[in-house]
Amino acid sequence: MSRTFNGGGRFRPTRRDVLAGAASVAAAPLLARAAPSPAPLEARPGKVQLAPEGYDATEVWGYGGTAPGPVLRAPQGGRLERRLVNGLPQATTIHWHGIRIDNAMDGVPGLTQEAVPPGAQFDYAFDLPDAGTYWYHAHERSTEQVARGLHGALIVEEPETPDVDRDEVLVLDDWLVSPETAQLDPEFESMHDRSHAGRRGNLITTNGAFAWQAEVRRHERLRLRLINASNARIFVLSVQGLEGWVMAQDGMPLEAPEPLPREIVLAPAQRVDLFVDVVAEPGAQAGLLRLDDDDTFRPQAVFSVSGAAGASRREPPRALPPNPRQAKPDLEGARRLTLNMEGGAMGGLQQAVYEGERLGFRDLARRNLFWSFNGTVGMTDAPLAELDRGEMVTLKIVNDTAFPHAMHLHGMHFRTVGADGTQGPMRDTVLSVPGEPVTLAFVADNPGDWLLHCHMLGHAASGMMTWVRVR
Ligand code: C2O
Ligand code: CU
Repeated sequence: MSRTFNGGGRFRPTRRDVLAGAASVAAAPLLARAAPSPAPLEARPGKVQLAPEGYDATEVWGYGGTAPGPVLRAPQGGRLERRLVNGLPQATTIHWHGIRIDNAMDGVPGLTQEAVPPGAQFDYAFDLPDAGTYWYHAHERSTEQVARGLHGALIVEEPETPDVDRDEVLVLDDWLVSPETAQLDPEFESMHDRSHAGRRGNLITTNGAFAWQAEVRRHERLRLRLINASNARIFVLSVQGLEGWVMAQDGMPLEAPEPLPREIVLAPAQRVDLFVDVVAEPGAQAGLLRLDDDDTFRPQAVFSVSGAAGASRREPPRALPPNPRQAKPDLEGARRLTLNMEGGAMGGLQQAVYEGERLGFRDLARRNLFWSFNGTVGMTDAPLAELDRGEMVTLKIVNDTAFPHAMHLHGMHFRTVGADGTQGPMRDTVLSVPGEPVTLAFVADNPGDWLLHCHMLGHAASGMMTWVRVR
């Protein structure tokens, strides 16, 4: 019998699947602590039971053969040392997303290091100046390598553990798989995906499981670290049976906890830390719901609630301690940069420069290129800007395309600047939507060559990629 997925190519949980998901979670070591001399991170093929019971395990590429890879945990102010061993049939690198890292360790092939060939290895070693929720992922052929599963969470712990009962890392992902076999669609360069919203999957998982579940007790306070590791899906989430606060975005603590919004929007590569109290009755289910394309909320992570952990709810939490260099910059005299984004389907891009040559949109499309930044497609020898160390920069992003883009700057966090000059919380990835320019401000305080690209990974591969140099 051939299987198809219900609801327009989507898996639907059944009660049995929910239970099966719980069993596999219980067996998985979710919180692997970094040992003094840690095992290498081997990027290699493996199999993961992503789809519901009854389907074969999916062949993935993962760190340690699992997807997501192991949760790496290290203390703030510490150092992370990991050897990448390449057991893949392709060259690869690791990018440590959101870390204010030493440029040589940033993992960008052709810019900060050579890609590591099959069978070879590379030693990553760097300091961890900021606490928070980060992640690591492949940065070579990333449309394919990240879609195959090469990513994992990197948690930098505050010196004092915040007062929560448990700390759950929830890596959200989607996979584009055959509805019959649950094996990955091997088309990673689809012209349609690249020129539209990117490679969006039909099998949505939390921590590599179709129906992720955990047991909690009433009145427990949970720290949920959500990471959007998908290639292109913008998650819209809401909670049920939980009440709480947004504590941090992209690793960086908010000045004060903010009550949970009705909907949490998490663009590709973005993270959010929530503190939530379990308010559902024992026997009930609480959790995170995801808004699907058909306007229906479906479970993304389920918590089964048992007896009360305490008689009543706790006091609201205090803010997480700020990271160093979280002060708001003075925008007076800032260097002003603009990034005009054009292209894609329904975008009206006529022509752009690619590798020094001016090409019409059809010639670009023939090369599977669709997007331009300031009239240029993809990487150039010269950076978008050469910045002096310590220079204050504003970057106005104008989205003249028909699609949203998750713009990520390597090496430095930024703040969004409102029309009235107010500065938002620090982030490393911002969702830019058509017709609404967004201005970022940052201090160019980390020397090196830093990518600025769309984290809809097929968009980055088809033009949405540039870089800045900090001298
Ligand atoms: Cu998370 Cu350039 O990447
Ligand atoms: Cu994009």
